[in-house]
Amino acid sequence: MWKTYILASNLEDALQALAEHGERARIVAGATDLMLELQRNVRPNVEVLVDTTRIPGFDEIRLEDGWVRIGPNVLHSEAEISPVLRKYGFPLAQASWGVGSPQIRNRATIAGNLVTASPANDTIVPLMALGAQVTLRSVSGERTVPLSEFYTGVRRTVMRPDEMLTEIAFPAMKPNQRGVFLKMGLRKAQVISVVSAAAVLTLEDGVVQDAKITLGAVAPTIIRAPEAEAYLKGKTLDEAVAAEAGRLAAEAAHPIDDLRASAEYRRRMVAVLVKRALLRIAEGREAEDFPERPPLLWGKARPKPNQLPETVVLTEETPIRFRVNGREVSVKGAFRKSLLRMLREEVGFTGPKEACGEGECGACEVFVDGVAALSCMIPAPAAYGRDIVTVEGLAQDDALHPVQQAFVEAGAVQCGFCTPGFVMTTVKLLEEFPHPDRETIQNALTGNLCRCTGYYKIVRAVEKAAASLEKAA
Ligand SMILES: Cc1cc2nc3c(=O)[nH]c(=O)nc-3n(C[C@H](O)[C@H](O)[C@H](O)COP(=O)(O)OP(=O)(O)OC[C@H]3O[C@@H](n4cnc5c(N)ncnc54)[C@H](O)[C@@H]3O)c2cc1C
Ligand code: FES
Ligand code: FES
Repeated sequence: MWKTYILASNLEDALQALAEHGERARIVAGATDLMLELQRNVRPNVEVLVDTTRIPGFDEIRLEDGWVRIGPNVLHSEAEISPVLRKYGFPLAQASWGVGSPQIRNRATIAGNLVTASPANDTIVPLMALGAQVTLRSVSGERTVPLSEFYTGVRRTVMRPDEMLTEIAFPAMKPNQRGVFLKMGLRKAQVISVVSAAAVLTLEDGVVQDAKITLGAVAPTIIRAPEAEAYLKGKTLDEAVAAEAGRLAAEAAHPIDDLRASAEYRRRMVAVLVKRALLRIAEGREAEDFPERPPLLWGKARPKPNQLPETVVLTEETPIRFRVNGREVSVKGAFRKSLLRMLREEVGFTGPKEACGEGECGACEVFVDGVAALSCMIPAPAAYGRDIVTVEGLAQDDALHPVQQAFVEAGAVQCGFCTPGFVMTTVKLLEEFPHPDRETIQNALTGNLCRCTGYYKIVRAVEKAAASLEKAA
């Protein structure tokens, strides 16, 4: 576990810390991968965490000289709605939308997804098909590495311990290019890919001039499907062509058996997914299932970096100062805990619950600077200077919040363990969508699991809350 937590206010301080501490240091962004790795002792040498989320200017997605440039702090939730990505890097926006749940996407970055280097990580697949490159910086300079040369194996990259990924860039898709990303998991949302595929095609009068097909979760790293790509050149897409390209792509895969699927199933699903992706492009259905306006659970806020005047170095001895439910607090003794455990054990707010402790269930949900997030996935020192709201902060003058009241009236509570999370999600959803339709409600609730009440009553409670907030307005 970490012994020092550095909140870098600028790039130079972050790079200096990496140079100084070498293999003992690790950058932390959203922590949605790193927190679990540290808790499971996957990185026993790491003692210094360098938090780069407060560095200004790193959260931008820009179109510049025909290239799309993405900063290291860009969140999946920002990517999924980015007009630049939707127009010039559509498969990436789609992949970001498919990551975890809204609460995960509100913390997790594309950069973190690339560096974790799991073959099942979703955004690597479209970025490879888009011909992306990454910029790596250290105190001794900068280098640019094509993503196709970045990976050396499962969870291994060419990045040195003293380097930080400072930019992801790819050539903007041209008007004659079309692309799509598809993933297959064991359920519709909050799921790791069993297989994923991206296709980026260059077309002239319906004839394929160039094809890039990439596959995820079927080899130690993301792979291309060169035979399928070569076969597609000069073809007009139809059912038979798409099926043959799918068959050829399946031959490129060399998957493993694991608890999610057998190797044979994965291979077959590559053929299905690639065929489906190509037909979607042929029929102009790339955006099917991808909402124009997805619920973000930002409410009226925006996950902007809360900047610091200077770099802050926190250790066990330093109190963590932050605001919770409108009150300034200064906490000692929680340095190595999660934000959830700090809130429950040191501050006394037991509304957020620990059910899974792995970002899967939403029981620990809080608002961080106004945005829904999972407190079990946040290192306590990352809360420094932030504004946190727990479910206890919703009720005013001892009266239940209208959303809480609606859950009671709709019978949407049984054991109640999941309820604080559902209530928090509903509050943010209704700030964003005062009259959400069923699909929007279901999309918003994908990060909250209930083991007893059943979702019909919960969805009804959300609708009831929307009606009662409208009446009160
Ligand atoms: C419940 C749950 C569901 C998930 N679902 C999905 C899913 O559907 N699809 C998917 O692909 N992933 C999924 N993930 C994994 C994870 O959310 C993503 O990989 C995420 O994008 C990681 O980003 P982060 O900012 O949280 O990274 P962090 O955890 O902060 O960091 C991850 C790694 O990257 C390094 N790092 C981060 N930024 C930089 C940088 N700028 N330079 C150098 N190194 C850096 C860190 O040192 C660390 O090794 C899920 C995780 C959870 C907990
Ligand atoms: S998501 Fe945090 S406890 Fe389950
Ligand atoms: S009411 Fe028991 S887990 Fe949801």
